[in-house]
Amino acid sequence: MEFNRRQWLKSATMVGGFTLFNGLGLQALSTEKHLKFNPRLLTKPIKLSSNENPYGPSARVRGAITTVYSDGCRYPYSYADELAQILADKHGVPRESIILTGGSTEGLKIAGITFTADGGEIIAAKPTFLAMMQYAEMWGAKINWVPVDKDKGYDLEEIEKRISSETKMVFLCNPNNPTSTLLPKDQLVDFCSTVSKRTIVFSDEAYYEFIEDPNYPSMIDLVKKGENVVVSKTFSKVYGLAGLRIGYLIAKPEIAAILRKNVVAMTNVYAIAGAKEALNDHEFYNFSIQKNKEAKQLIYKTLEHLDLEYIKSNTNFVFFHSGKDINELGAKMLEKGVRVGRAFPPFYDWCRISTGTLEEMNLFAESLISLY
Ligand SMILES: Cc1ncc(COP(=O)(O)O)c(C=O)c1O
Repeated sequence: MEFNRRQWLKSATMVGGFTLFNGLGLQALSTEKHLKFNPRLLTKPIKLSSNENPYGPSARVRGAITTVYSDGCRYPYSYADELAQILADKHGVPRESIILTGGSTEGLKIAGITFTADGGEIIAAKPTFLAMMQYAEMWGAKINWVPVDKDKGYDLEEIEKRISSETKMVFLCNPNNPTSTLLPKDQLVDFCSTVSKRTIVFSDEAYYEFIEDPNYPSMIDLVKKGENVVVSKTFSKVYGLAGLRIGYLIAKPEIAAILRKNVVAMTNVYAIAGAKEALNDHEFYNFSIQKNKEAKQLIYKTLEHLDLEYIKSNTNFVFFHSGKDINELGAKMLEKGVRVGRAFPPFYDWCRISTGTLEEMNLFAESLISLY
């Protein structure tokens, strides 16, 4: 086994610092243009732990931010109104439906406290992205955790069963972090339409752009129909702006007005300028999607080589069954210069790995293989 692994690694040829993983049939896209703006490449430890986009911000976004340096002395409100209008037009909703936030995390947190301010519970899957639930719990909310099903997807039947007069919101993260699972679209639409008659449904769509089905619905469709649905979106993932902190919520105007009152940080003029440019930078958007696909293929190939089970991902990360305690695996990978995702109870022998550049994927592969 050891010999075979070495042989396989050797077959991945180093070309100008890039391992191209021969035999994968992957096209090496011209990365140069985007890489030259990123001086952090392969600074160890490489960060494959937070589902970021290592290629961002794009060259055009960087350029746009420099043009508003002098606006750093201004409050962001009028700039935010302009971006809100652009986003409203993009999604086909009124401007009053858009709430700009400091990353979508702020949107998740304010939704959590807004709807449970008078007590009650949020129903959420376990495991999922925790920002909303951890924050709401600190402010007195109860969380009704529903374990994911045997395929690590949402158990919608169980969620629906648990809805009671105590339930103030159902949190859906679709695709889900950390499992990367995606709900079948018909099931999703039926569930959200039915359940939003009884309680608020929150749809976290941070990874929506990575879904490969071009006809996969966004729950913004239900917002437009006037349902009690709130959607969160972010510029942190496909657009590569995680450090700038900008995201937004979309809800019907009556709900949006209540949420807006609880915004604390909002965002800033540089992030707004960056986001505006990012929306028009289709080349970088397509580049990010393509590089993410390539990186996922490399992760799959590595895991298949090691005979490790994994979930086919709809996101920019892969959740796999390492068979090793994640805290130990995480520490060993870190020694080798690779930071992987944290523990996601109850799946202590699973690991979440974010996609990185092809060079980073190579270091990940080499490091993981050396541990088996
Ligand atoms: C599902 C999900 N929602 C929201 C976020 C937060 O993104 P941000 O606050 O950067 O918009 C993340 C970050 O990893 C996430 O995985």
